[in-house]
Amino acid sequence: MTMTEREVTRSQEGDFLQLKGIDYVEFYVGNARQAAHYFRTAFGFKPLAYAGLETGIRDRTSFVVEQRNIRFVLTGALEPDGDVAEHVRLHGDGVKDIAFLVDDAAQAFRETVKRGAQPVLEPTVIQGQKGHVVKATIAAYGDTVHSFIQRDGYQGTFFPKFHAIKNPPPTMPTGLAAIDHIVGNVELGRMDEWVDFYNQVLGFRQLQHFSDEDISTEYSALMSKVVQNGTGRIKFPINEPAEGKRKSQIDEYLQYYRGPGAQHIALITDDIIGTVRALRGNGVDFLRTPDTYYEMLNERVGMIDEDMDALRELNILVDRDDEGYLLQIFTKPLQDRPTVFFEIIQRKGARGFGAGNFKALFEAIEREQELRGNL
Ligand code: FE2
Repeated sequence: MTMTEREVTRSQEGDFLQLKGIDYVEFYVGNARQAAHYFRTAFGFKPLAYAGLETGIRDRTSFVVEQRNIRFVLTGALEPDGDVAEHVRLHGDGVKDIAFLVDDAAQAFRETVKRGAQPVLEPTVIQGQKGHVVKATIAAYGDTVHSFIQRDGYQGTFFPKFHAIKNPPPTMPTGLAAIDHIVGNVELGRMDEWVDFYNQVLGFRQLQHFSDEDISTEYSALMSKVVQNGTGRIKFPINEPAEGKRKSQIDEYLQYYRGPGAQHIALITDDIIGTVRALRGNGVDFLRTPDTYYEMLNERVGMIDEDMDALRELNILVDRDDEGYLLQIFTKPLQDRPTVFFEIIQRKGARGFGAGNFKALFEAIEREQELRGNL
């Protein structure tokens, strides 16, 4: 068998999980009701379902919000103890669960635990009047987890014990359509360990590698590797801090999140100018981009379809690779701590992550960091 054949065989065997996509991302937050309001009014997510005291859940409140193919669950604690309150006390608001849709949750759990995953929740049938959902959960970086969700036996809204929100308040969609990638920050020296985890335990492949030479400024740097599942639909870049003269943004995240966690969720739009205009109109704060960035842009990316003045006005970044280009912009942190944020991204052929923008982005992030006295 040649090397190539062996690699092909291994990559086919590698995708043993057959993940069908990200079912939802669950945030643990200080106040789910207010978070749901913010996700609706700022980002255009429509309230879909609710669980809490009124639906027979005693320890937590959850609001499910969605826009096109993006579904977020916002969960807050009803008691001072327990995993939700403890998570929020330690980390502030943040991503708890990046849940995958699967055909067979028990099998996904069994196969990943066999390959070294740490079990969090054994396969559990959650029964309701409109059928059942099967859920199982394994640990990922920090206190983040991955659940496997099997819904073929369920016809109701979201999960049993969730009530559909019948008359949702008015919601203006902002054009956000799907999750493109979710980035995890891990401690110095542990990136490869987590790349191996996704490779060996979940059957993901490593896609791309940025060295700290690509992603460095005078003051800080990071290392990043990207893993993706067999279909390429689920992409997880993993960052670790690299040595810099001063504290890097990854270090700042790790300090304020009190450990590893999800750094940002990139959301796809088909019309980034329209989306960013709508989000800005709703009061969403984005990172600023130096004006000098746009002086160099034409030279760096060549001809693009979009109006350069609109990109400059909205601070949208552009990057080009062999296959095309992409447009992207980063919000400020979504909560008090300088931790998780959103990226808004539009792809025009490019399948990368905007490596050429890292330097411009980091300079922008560091200006923010300096304002907070953390650089
Ligand atoms: Fe990103």
